[in-house]
Amino acid sequence: MEKIQINASRKYEMLIGRDLLTNAGKYISEVIEPGKVCIVTDDVVSGIYKDTVFNSLVAAGFEVYVFVFEHGEKSKNITTVSSILEYMAENDFTRSDAIAALGGGITGDVAGFAASVFLRGIRFVQLPTTFLAAVDSSVGGKTGVNLKGGKNLAGAFWQPSLVLCDCNTFSTLPYEIFLDGVAEAIKYGAIINRELFDTLMLHNHDLFPSSEASQKDIENNVSSDVLIEIVNQCVTIKRDIVMEDERDTGVRQLLNFGHTIGHAVEKCSNYAITHGHAVAIGMFIVSKASYKLGLCKMDCSLEIENMLNKFNFPVACPFTAAELTQVALKDKKRAGKSITLVLPDYIGHCYLKKINIEDLETFISAGL
Ligand SMILES: NC(=O)c1ccc[n+]([C@@H]2O[C@H](COP(=O)([O-])OP(=O)(O)OC[C@H]3O[C@@H](n4cnc5c(N)ncnc54)[C@H](O)[C@@H]3O)[C@@H](O)[C@H]2O)c1
Ligand SMILES: [Zn+2]
Repeated sequence: MEKIQINASRKYEMLIGRDLLTNAGKYISEVIEPGKVCIVTDDVVSGIYKDTVFNSLVAAGFEVYVFVFEHGEKSKNITTVSSILEYMAENDFTRSDAIAALGGGITGDVAGFAASVFLRGIRFVQLPTTFLAAVDSSVGGKTGVNLKGGKNLAGAFWQPSLVLCDCNTFSTLPYEIFLDGVAEAIKYGAIINRELFDTLMLHNHDLFPSSEASQKDIENNVSSDVLIEIVNQCVTIKRDIVMEDERDTGVRQLLNFGHTIGHAVEKCSNYAITHGHAVAIGMFIVSKASYKLGLCKMDCSLEIENMLNKFNFPVACPFTAAELTQVALKDKKRAGKSITLVLPDYIGHCYLKKINIEDLETFISAGL
């Protein structure tokens, strides 16, 4: 088992290994004294992993409650958070009680946000079950929901008390959902670590099950130790960045590579295009535009496109520059008359660039 220590406004550990969910209660009781705990999970994950976690929490002495919501980005809203809060209030949760977020990034964002506001903040643990949640969203303390106007427009910084990443859970992921996490892993490589980028390129067949793979192949692939090592490397990069800039005012913004346009793609598709797939498209558009407009020396879009093709990501964007711009201008990264984009200099190095909002449409057009 790997252990990563995160020293942010709260100090906590991420444990990465196998069969960790069976012992979730034991690990959680080491950081939170057993009391009431509410497992928050979606209807898909509930059917696969809820009982394991439930039983292990009960065995460790917790009084366990379960809140299940409908899976998908459409549930990442204030109504779901409000229902979680009401459910905990009805069941007399107090400040010493906790939430266990069991699922992907949506579950973590929604459950973490509920934890941040219930009684002005209770503790929560992240039990990521998607590759995306493992390499990205379960660590760093960003929680929140979408508003009608756009992605993640309401939220809070609220760090978990523990992240328990059981890599065996990846074995039940459909390939397309696995890919969403691969996009975030490619992002880390592109912004800061060429070696990680190359590892992903090298292992795209043996590590990540292809869309035609049988369930057996998927199980064999995800049992590879290299996969654990990739999670480890991604989270270590994120940990270092978060520890330098927890509140996202400086270097942490690099993690938004591909995200301003990616969020616009998600929103324009009414969330039919999932987060990782949209970020993949966003990384490609930004790289191409940066080179065309002379904002970087190398055309990184070629390598990024090559990588995305290897994993069978669709890179074509079905929306116009005008449609994307309209949505992107509502992005959190906008400040007054400018918006900060993350541009690649070369693979393994990105930088922040403020552009005027009037220039955004031309920028996006150059990348399409
Ligand atoms: N907070 C952050 O720092 C951060 C970072 C990156 C992304 N995000 C957010 O994360 C969200 C995307 O997360 P996601 O891709 O994990 O989506 P998700 O949570 O919707 O999970 C994807 C789908 O996979 C299913 N699923 C989850 N685990 C499974 C398993 N082990 N086996 C089978 N099915 C499983 C879920 O039911 C869901 O239908 C987006 O809303 C994005 O904005 C947040
Ligand atoms: Zn992301």
